Amino acid sequence: MCGIFGYCNFLKDKDRKEILEILCNGLARQEYRGYDSAGLGIDGDNPGEIVFFKEVGKVAGLRKRIAESNINTSKTFSSQVSIAHTRWATHGPPSTVNCHPIRSDPSNEFIIVHNGIVTNAAALRQVLQNRGYKFESETDTEAVAILTKYVYDSQPGKRITFPSLVKTVLKELEGSFAFVFKSIHYPNEIVTARRGSPLLIGVKTEKKLKVDFVDVEISGPDDGKAVDGFVPTAPNSRLAPPAPKISRRQSRNYMSEDGMPQPIEFFVASDASAIVEHTKRVLYLEDDDIAHISDGQLHIHRLRRNESGQAETPATRSIETLEIEIAAIMKGKFDHFMQKEIYEQPESVVNTMRGRVIFDDYRITLGGLRSYLPIIRRGRRIVFCACGTSYHSALATQAMFEELTEIPVSVELASDFLDRKTPIFRDDVCVFVSQSGETADTILALRYCLERGALCVGIVNTVGSTISRETHCGIHINAGPEVGVASTKAYTSQYVALVLMALQLSEDRISFTPRRRAIIDGLRELPVQIKKVLELDSTLREFANTLLANQRSLLLMGRGYQHATCLEGALKIKEIAYMHSEGILAGELKHGPLALIDENMPVIIVMTQDSLYPKVQSAFAQITARKAQPIVICNEGDDGIKKGVKTIRLPKTVDVLQGLLNIIPLQLLSYHLAVKNGFDVDCPRNLAKSVTTE
Ligand code: UD1
Ligand code: BG6
Repeated sequence: MCGIFGYCNFLKDKDRKEILEILCNGLARQEYRGYDSAGLGIDGDNPGEIVFFKEVGKVAGLRKRIAESNINTSKTFSSQVSIAHTRWATHGPPSTVNCHPIRSDPSNEFIIVHNGIVTNAAALRQVLQNRGYKFESETDTEAVAILTKYVYDSQPGKRITFPSLVKTVLKELEGSFAFVFKSIHYPNEIVTARRGSPLLIGVKTEKKLKVDFVDVEISGPDDGKAVDGFVPTAPNSRLAPPAPKISRRQSRNYMSEDGMPQPIEFFVASDASAIVEHTKRVLYLEDDDIAHISDGQLHIHRLRRNESGQAETPATRSIETLEIEIAAIMKGKFDHFMQKEIYEQPESVVNTMRGRVIFDDYRITLGGLRSYLPIIRRGRRIVFCACGTSYHSALATQAMFEELTEIPVSVELASDFLDRKTPIFRDDVCVFVSQSGETADTILALRYCLERGALCVGIVNTVGSTISRETHCGIHINAGPEVGVASTKAYTSQYVALVLMALQLSEDRISFTPRRRAIIDGLRELPVQIKKVLELDSTLREFANTLLANQRSLLLMGRGYQHATCLEGALKIKEIAYMHSEGILAGELKHGPLALIDENMPVIIVMTQDSLYPKVQSAFAQITARKAQPIVICNEGDDGIKKGVKTIRLPKTVDVLQGLLNIIPLQLLSYHLAVKNGFDVDCPRNLAKSVTTE
């Protein structure tokens, strides 16, 4: 998905080379989000001049284009603002003209970068074209750039402030977005705003800031008045706001502790990973916030006020300290982020449990759910909603939730849940599982359930993300940043977090004590057992390079808890190895899939020892009778498997946790298949890490 990066320095000398480097690095750090072109806009040599660099493909190509240009890289700016973007095409194919920053006109009066989709862009485009404005790209973003110029041109004396101008424009927009605006009319100023797409601002100073929050400013009633469908007759009189009236406290965060303005740098990004190398002090914008950076000051305005005239969100935005380390988002000794993340799982599952499981007392404490446990226990049913891998983690733990809570549980794909307009009631508990916390389908499902009065719980990796903020309560899985598009460590951490949730919900049931204890003992062993599974890496590479190397298809079968393992394993193989792969419920074999089986069809069958083992043995018999030569994922010491059968032998754990171990060989297998074929493991074609559009 698209990535935004903006950079402002104030009273801090930076030459153009450094500025370009900061921008390209900011984009490169967000590459994992998935994109198809990259661009940036910086100040030229003369006032009112903007220079663009745009390239289809990778940020490395953009860097090359800059290096090959004859731009004077030694020119120094004591203050400037510049913006950059990685685009994932939604309106118009990847091309330099569709690449952001998008301009309002050939003189670059306004340039913007945009994430998300403006759903009424076609109507805006039509109205603006009728007024004589020319469009050069196919993007929805261009309608916004040109609308900005239109509103600006309509002002008497053009006295409107930059944030008021942007506010007026945003009021005309429908859809979801994060924007950064830059203009030759407002040198050294930047305006950035969000609705539905994440945005944060990093603040870097040498001296400590006087306060660690920014006031939200409520401006006068005329400020940013809507354009009213472009009524053209007297545009100026309707749109001429006075200078904004600030009725609340001024922003003070730019001052140092001694009360003096100080040199300062601001970094605007869609993702903390782009900021953390510069500063750990960040401020997350809320939906409908408009941030204005000018003269080293950061002001936050609201797009709308509620009826009582008060801002509906908290009156300040705090400047938080990020806890992620730059090392945590770099590859280290691994060739790919995905590989690194697979290998991190012995630690990431511990991080999910840290401070939450007291093994010796068999006690679970989920701080985020504590005060909501009675409501959840009283719930009529639990509805899980998620997409992709996150959906599989919910599926993997569904049976355990049903067993331990004795509450009916359904697991929904967020998009289908919305398509069906599933009935949701006040006594439902809806659980939203998401690594990024920004997946549009899941967010929309969340808002749908909030409107219907259900208790909404988040299981999220990204602190500060939309789902984390908009749910009533939840659990951060604490797996650390996941960069590879194909989710691995987030899956196992989501799984563990869901196990903890079910255990916590069942703590008052005496009859479940032995079962709960067995699961908690299993969790204690988990990190060591994952390490053991990782030792099978070379065997899996061997399978990928020989047995499965030239296959076009792969079936994975299992039942019970292992159905989710098969679906997730098949998804991994599809995602990064571009190989057709299907997860099949072994119980359904005879109702269709058996027709696919012959000596040429590669099959993996998950046959670890739980109560369904005899039934999976019968599935094994059915496929081998049809000459299949499956690879069997089974437990160490299982001597019921005939000699000569290829096996992947894993440590045994309690049935509800076995899926945590069983998925790891499939993650490794998909990884090696992708590497063998020379595919881009971390950024598979057509996929994005965080899908912020429906
Ligand atoms: C919290 C702190 C953690 C600290 C611990 C010690 C945060 C983010 N976590 O962890 O740093 O070490 O206390 O007491 O500050 N939430 C949602 N929706 C979600 C996820 C979480 O609303 O999708 C809410 C929770 O209900 C909770 C808060 O966010 O109010 C923090 O959740 P979580 O990090 O899981 O809580 P703790 O494990 O208690
Ligand atoms: C995308 C990713 O489709 O979103 C998947 O490519 C991911 O890997 C899915 O599972 C859901 O993402 P999230 O962030 O909501 O867990």
